[in-house]
Amino acid sequence: MITEKSSDKLIELISEETIQQRIKELAGRINGCFSEKEELVVVAVLAGSILFASDLVKRLHMPVQLEFVRLSSYGNDIKTCGKVKPVDLTLPSLEGKNVLIVEDIVDTGLTAKFIIDYLKLQHRAGTVKFATLLNKTCARKVEIPIDFSGFEVDDKFVVGYGMDFRGYYRNLPYIGYFPQD
Ligand code: IMP
Repeated sequence: MITEKSSDKLIELISEETIQQRIKELAGRINGCFSEKEELVVVAVLAGSILFASDLVKRLHMPVQLEFVRLSSYGNDIKTCGKVKPVDLTLPSLEGKNVLIVEDIVDTGLTAKFIIDYLKLQHRAGTVKFATLLNKTCARKVEIPIDFSGFEVDDKFVVGYGMDFRGYYRNLPYIGYFPQD
């Protein structure tokens, strides 16, 4: 049983150093896709991607506009409710712009599909690319075009480096999981 206070039981899955090294590689690949003068709008999906997005954008070389949306797919626990709830979709016009969506983790893929479709269809963004730190391919329910993926993870609930359980653990610099009791 996971509780908010049981961080002593947390097992490290991906270390801080490994995360930072991988972000460096991802940023290098993203920089390679755009010229140094091409503007890029980075749309970070809150709250989980906050640490990943902030470390990633520091390494991008083109002019970057950083924007945020807030979506919710997990009720208050570790099971997805199967529906994406837009909490805040306030964005400037993205028509014709190069957009990079930044997510913490793609699980079922429903959140990713929602935001990709929203930016393409409602905002008519020019190009939409998608970056995620973690990819839980085994839990996928819908097909998602992922352009930049940090790490493949098993179907276990992870916390840390932006990801939470009941609002806790987002501040951890590494990613971990709780063993099944
Ligand atoms: P999806 O819509 O099922 O792909 O879920 C995406 C969102 O659910 C992510 O942006 C996370 O906020 C959350 N999520 C999915 N798996 C985990 C996990 O293992 N730990 C913490 N949050 C997760």
